[in-house]
Amino acid sequence: MKIALIVTLSLSLVFATKFSSKYHTTAELNEELESLSRSCSFLSLSNASDSPQIKEVNINRNQNKKYRAYILFGEHPRELISPESGIHFLNDLCYEKTDPKNQQILDNFELRLILNANPLSRQKVEGGEYCLRENENGVDINRNYDAHWEKVQDDVRQVTSGPNPFSEPETRAVRDSLKSFNPHIFLTVHSGTLGMFTPHAYSTDAAEQNEEKMMDILNDISGKYCPSCDVGVASQAIGYLAPGSCVDYAYDELKIRYSFAFEIYHGSINLEEQLKSRSHSSFLQLTGQQQSTKNRKFEHNNNHSCFLQTSSKYEMSKEECFDYFNPDSSQYDWYVQNWTEAYQEMLLKLVQEEKQQ
Ligand SMILES: *[C@@H]1O[C@H](CO)[C@@H](O)[C@H](O)[C@H]1NC(C)=O
Ligand SMILES: *[C@@H]1O[C@H](CO)[C@@H](O)[C@H](O)[C@H]1NC(C)=O
Ligand SMILES: *[C@@H]1O[C@H](CO)[C@@H](O)[C@H](O)[C@H]1NC(C)=O
Ligand SMILES: [Zn+2]
Repeated sequence: MKIALIVTLSLSLVFATKFSSKYHTTAELNEELESLSRSCSFLSLSNASDSPQIKEVNINRNQNKKYRAYILFGEHPRELISPESGIHFLNDLCYEKTDPKNQQILDNFELRLILNANPLSRQKVEGGEYCLRENENGVDINRNYDAHWEKVQDDVRQVTSGPNPFSEPETRAVRDSLKSFNPHIFLTVHSGTLGMFTPHAYSTDAAEQNEEKMMDILNDISGKYCPSCDVGVASQAIGYLAPGSCVDYAYDELKIRYSFAFEIYHGSINLEEQLKSRSHSSFLQLTGQQQSTKNRKFEHNNNHSCFLQTSSKYEMSKEECFDYFNPDSSQYDWYVQNWTEAYQEMLLKLVQEEKQQ
């Protein structure tokens, strides 16, 4: 009894430490946004949805800017690092506004960001449910867009499309916010693998329009910031089809010419270490698949990749889920800093690409 109690206590301490060290709660994210909106005259907040409350961040400094960029974070709540990279990007933009890169971004772009697209479930993750991928209705919101939508219900892999396209309040909020903003570039940020993807996710067909320019941008960023990232058509890189995703919705339905999905972290190394003390066949299979991160393409059948799928909540412990999707506190700064620079580079490179027209 005593031992069990001690184990339980120390486990919950581990969880608490994992979360509280660097990561923000939803309340802290909101407080930080409020504080940014007070400090930065060009940053304002609005509500993309009241229930659940989803905030939009609007950045608009230059009346003569040419481009609009939209970045979506936190669709999958267990991928905590996604919103963390977003709040870091915003802090950098606000407090380092004299940095030449940020100057150029603020001169050329109006931006809209959603930092926390799945706030009700994220709060559960903050409470320790580190494997939670779906929203409050058990739906994967990145399968709920009206873009080649298919009804999917796969409990083991945690992929549930919902009963209809846009059945979920979170996807309706993103849809309306994205449509009204009408950006030139759309990016959704995830974790669970390392990659930078273009449409399509629903089929293995490459994007018909603007693919070369999209690839120019991704090759540039991956060379500088993520050499082990898979780069290319989402479904091909992951070896898996994902109907009803935002990256296809932005590209095919809203005709946004640059539409990307980034996968910014994968924790295979931690998992492998944990595996040594366990024998669990599905984990062993998972580790085998994770071993080479380069040139995996089709042969790396990434069933557990976050953007498309990850291994089931029945297999991973909560702690393992945290480590699979999120860097620990010692790596946190490195990831948020580097991905902030990658987002900046993406925007600056788009300006260059468009000038070459
Ligand atoms: C957003 O909604 C919250 C809660 O309803 C409200 O307090 C806040 O004023 C709203 N913000 C804006 C900018 O309308
Ligand atoms: C993983 O993908 C392969 C090939 O698509 C498939 O045969 C297999 O059933 C998948 N495994 C799981 C657990 O979904
Ligand atoms: C990544 O971040 C670290 C820590 O902030 C920094 O030292 C390093 O230069 C960054 N890497 C790149 C490619 O910017
Ligand atoms: Zn994801």
